[in-house]
Amino acid sequence: MLLSPTAKRPSVRPRVLSVIGARPEIIQAAPVSAALAAVADEVLVHTGQHYDAAMSGQQILATRLPRPAHNLGIGSRPREQQLKLGEERLLQVIARERPDVVLVRGDTNATLSGARAAVAAGVPLVHVEAGLRSFRADMPEEHNRVETDRIADVLCAPCRGARDNLRSERVEGAVHVTGDPLCDALELWRPHVEGEQGEYLLATVHRNYNTDDPLRLQAVLHCLARSPWPVVLPLHPRTRAALAAWGIELPATVRAIDPVPYPRMLALERGARVIATDSGGVQREAYLWGVPCVTLREETEWTDTVATGWNTLAGIDPDQFEAALRRPPPTSRPSVFGDGRAAHRIADLTVALAAAAAEIRRPPA
Ligand code: UD1
Ligand code: UDP
Repeated sequence: MLLSPTAKRPSVRPRVLSVIGARPEIIQAAPVSAALAAVADEVLVHTGQHYDAAMSGQQILATRLPRPAHNLGIGSRPREQQLKLGEERLLQVIARERPDVVLVRGDTNATLSGARAAVAAGVPLVHVEAGLRSFRADMPEEHNRVETDRIADVLCAPCRGARDNLRSERVEGAVHVTGDPLCDALELWRPHVEGEQGEYLLATVHRNYNTDDPLRLQAVLHCLARSPWPVVLPLHPRTRAALAAWGIELPATVRAIDPVPYPRMLALERGARVIATDSGGVQREAYLWGVPCVTLREETEWTDTVATGWNTLAGIDPDQFEAALRRPPPTSRPSVFGDGRAAHRIADLTVALAAAAAEIRRPPA
């Protein structure tokens, strides 16, 4: 699908089927939904990949995302089943809703189900948060984003590095640097986030390779135990299940709490001395707040956070972790995730794609 940014706008509002499934998709969907509301009719579909109230329902309320029109109830399943069932159920919704465009975001199984369903139904596809790469084959997310990027018609890269990855892969779709809707979300909330700086380290852990191996999970906790400040750990359900399955106890200085609603998370981030995480979203938010971050991974997709000196890759080595905690923060923090208006660009590109598709479908006069 060729897309000109100047494609004529359709005379009727296009119908956009927008897919969410996991916590970060809900949070990033909120500003995009608000921007789409001005120019299109959005049908929000939740695959149900995340279903705990703290991961889904409470996040939808807290972020003021409209209530999804459909919840497909996919739940927790092995990856292939989640992908297949997601695609099948999304195809049924597409048949009923007849959207002009499908929009997926990020790199979850919901993302790839949505992308595959769009292609199977012949509906043009927008991928938001396109072009990120970890170059790690043992991450399901890497497979999800590479395949989604190969089949998307419009690819919204959150930063220039993501665009460069897409260029070097020679993807067929049209690539645009839009900025990161997660940055939009944070900027919307920034004036309302209250609280002083505290003497604590905020941590989150949920990557498959950090939680599925008990030795690695233990090593992550050994890192956190080196913090000179008490550790607050909003515990992802995957990690809670892994700790219980392996019978692993948390260090005495680590306080696990339930996952918190997004505005509360922003306050915890802003007030932290340091953030330690393996989350993609939390690494970017640490950067946006100007809070030093230590990433409990050997690599990151969000390389700008490392290149600017605000994020240190410590892997799961306690000595490296401790050294990273002592590293003084840089003096400057360039804007790398956009200007807080990514959602508007994404909405405009989505409408333009619908217009271009309608033009192609129109019979010759
Ligand atoms: C998923 C995404 C990951 C994203 C993360 C955000 C994939 C492959 N992974 O990982 O990219 O960073 O969401 O948080 O799509 N569980 C619950 N309740 C829930 C959801 C999950 O108990 O509401 C537990 C279940 O034991 C489940 C496990 O967490 O098996 C993993 O959930 P899943 O959605 O498969 O992957 P995440 O690790 O959450
Ligand atoms: N988050 C939240 N509550 C929590 C932990 C995280 O609202 O208890 C938010 C966080 O602020 C960020 C998003 O969840 O916006 C990141 O999602 P997650 O870490 O689950 O996934 P990832 O970004 O790694 O895909």
